[in-house]
Amino acid sequence: PALAPAAAAHDISSCLLSNGVSNFSLPSSPSYTPLLDSSIRNLRFELPGVGKPAAVILPASKRDLQSAVVCARAASLAIRVRSGGHSYEGLSYTTENHVPFVVIDLAGLNRVRVDRRSATAWAESGATLGEVYHAVGLSGGRNLAFSAGSCSTVGMGGHTAGGGFGLLSRKYALAADNVIDAVLIDPSGRALTRATMDDDVFWAIRGGGGGSFGVVYAWKLRLVPVPDNITVFSIGRTGPVELIAGLMHRWQYVGPSLPDEFYLSTYIPTRSSNGNLSMSFTGQVLGTKRHAMAVLSQTFPELGLAESELSEVSWLESAVKFAGLSSVADLTNRQPGVRQYSKSKSDYVRAPISKQDAIKILRYMSAGPEGSIQLDPYGGAMARIGSTVTPFPHRAGYLYSIQYGVSWKASEIDRADEYIGWLRSFYTFMAPYVSKNPRAAYVNYLDLDLGTNGWKNATGGTSVAHAASWGERYFFTNFDRLVRAKSKVDPENVFNNAQSIPPLHYDR
Ligand code: FDA
Repeated sequence: PALAPAAAAHDISSCLLSNGVSNFSLPSSPSYTPLLDSSIRNLRFELPGVGKPAAVILPASKRDLQSAVVCARAASLAIRVRSGGHSYEGLSYTTENHVPFVVIDLAGLNRVRVDRRSATAWAESGATLGEVYHAVGLSGGRNLAFSAGSCSTVGMGGHTAGGGFGLLSRKYALAADNVIDAVLIDPSGRALTRATMDDDVFWAIRGGGGGSFGVVYAWKLRLVPVPDNITVFSIGRTGPVELIAGLMHRWQYVGPSLPDEFYLSTYIPTRSSNGNLSMSFTGQVLGTKRHAMAVLSQTFPELGLAESELSEVSWLESAVKFAGLSSVADLTNRQPGVRQYSKSKSDYVRAPISKQDAIKILRYMSAGPEGSIQLDPYGGAMARIGSTVTPFPHRAGYLYSIQYGVSWKASEIDRADEYIGWLRSFYTFMAPYVSKNPRAAYVNYLDLDLGTNGWKNATGGTSVAHAASWGERYFFTNFDRLVRAKSKVDPENVFNNAQSIPPLHYDR
C-alpha cells in the first residue's frame, strides 16, 4: 500500500539526499507553494481542493532525474513529470483519487545545444519552446528554425511527446516528426537512447502523449531551413454574421490547400459587439511580401489583404511576434503572461462546412460565454506523412483542427460549471460538422471529458478496451501499437495518469 503523504515525504527526502539530490521542496518548506505554482498554466488546478504532491523535485542533471524516479518508486509515490506545466487538464502536477505523489519538475533541465553544421540540436525536456527558438535563432545566421507551437512558455517535454503543431508544420510537420534521437529514463531509472530502446518505444514517445512511457530527459532535433526574411501578418476583420461566416467558409478551401510555405490560421471569439462578429487571421509565409500578396490575392481575394498589413522579419522575430512578446530576450522568460481558468476541447474537419452551417455555428457561439475557436490548417507536409509513421494519425484527408475554449476570471469562479457546460453542449452541437468514427481529437489538447482511466478501480476500469474509447480518438489504430510499446517499457504501469496508455494485462 502507498505510504501516507507525511511519511512518504520523509522517506523520499532521505532517499534523495542519500543519492546526492538536494534540490527538492517539501510541503513544510516556504519554497514549496511558489515552486509548485511556478508553471501552473490553468488556474483551475491551483484551487485549494486540488491534491498536492508530497514533494516537488527539481533535478539539476540527468543523474538527479534518474535518482528522482528510483526514490519516488522506493517511497511508493506516484510520479508526475512536469516540463512546461501547460497540460490542459493539469496532469503534470495532479493525481486522481488522492493517490500520494511527487512532481518531478524539469524546469532546471532546460539546456539547448545547437550544432549548425549538422542542423541539429539537443534540447533538454524542461526547455520551453521559447528557449529552444532563442537558442536556434541566435546560433548564428537567420536561416535555421525548429518546427513547433507558438506559445513560448509551452515545455518541450509535454509538447513534443504529444506531437507539437505550429506555424512551420505545413512545411516541416510536427515537432515530434523532427525528433531523431532521445534519452528516455525508464521505470528502473535507466537512461535509454534510440539505439538501446525498443523501436516501438522510440516510435511511441514521438506523439503518443506525455506521461505514459517514462521521462524523456532530452530530444535530438532536426532543424529546418528558412529564408533570411519571412513574411508575417495578423489581421482582424469585423462584420455581421454573414460576412464572418463567408470568410470562415472560404478559408476552409484556402488554408489547408495553400502551398507548403504558407500558414494561415483563423481565430474567432464568441463575443460580438454591436451585433458584429470579429475574426482574426494569423499568417506566416516563407517568402517575400510580394510572393505572399501574389498568392493570397489570387486564392483568397475575399480577405482583402493589403501589402501594408504584411511585414518581413527573421524567423526568430516571427516567433517573438506570434508568442505575443515584444523582444527576442522575452523568449527565455518562463513566466506565462496570462494565467487563466480555462477548459478546451478539439475536433478535426475532413469536409468543408457549408456557409449556412457556418452561420448556425457562429450564432451558437455568440450566445456563449467568453471563449473562442481556433482553426489550424493542415495539408502540405502534414498530409504527406503516413498516418502510422508516428502515433499522431491526423494526416491526409484532415483539412484542419478546431480548438474550442472557454475561459473565466477568479471573480466568475462560481460560474465555472456553467461555462464548461456550455462548451460541452457546443461540442455536441458541432458533431454533424466534424470527423466521425471515431470523432478525432488532438492529444496535446487533452480533454478528460473523452474518458479516464480508473487505476484504483478493482472492477477493471483500467482495461485496454476502456482506454481505447478515447485512445482511438487521439491515435486511431496506432493505439494498439502504443499499448504494445507501453507493455514493453513499463509493464508495471509506473508512469500513468488519467488518460495514459495502459499496458496489456494490467488490472490494478
Ligand atoms: P506539462 O509539463 O503539463 O506536460 C504535459 C504532459 O506531458 C503531462 O502528462 C506530463 O506528465 C507529460 N510530460 C511532461 N514532460 C515530460 C517528459 N519530459 N517526458 C514524458 N512526459 C512528460 N500545442 C500545439 O501543438 N501547438 C501550439 O501552438 C500550442 N499552444 C499552446 C498554448 C497554450 C497557452 C497552452 C496552454 C497549450 C498549447 N499547446 C499547443 C498544447 C501543448 O502542446 C500541450 O499542453 C503540451 O502537453 C504542454 O507541454 P508542457 O511540457 O508545457 O506540459
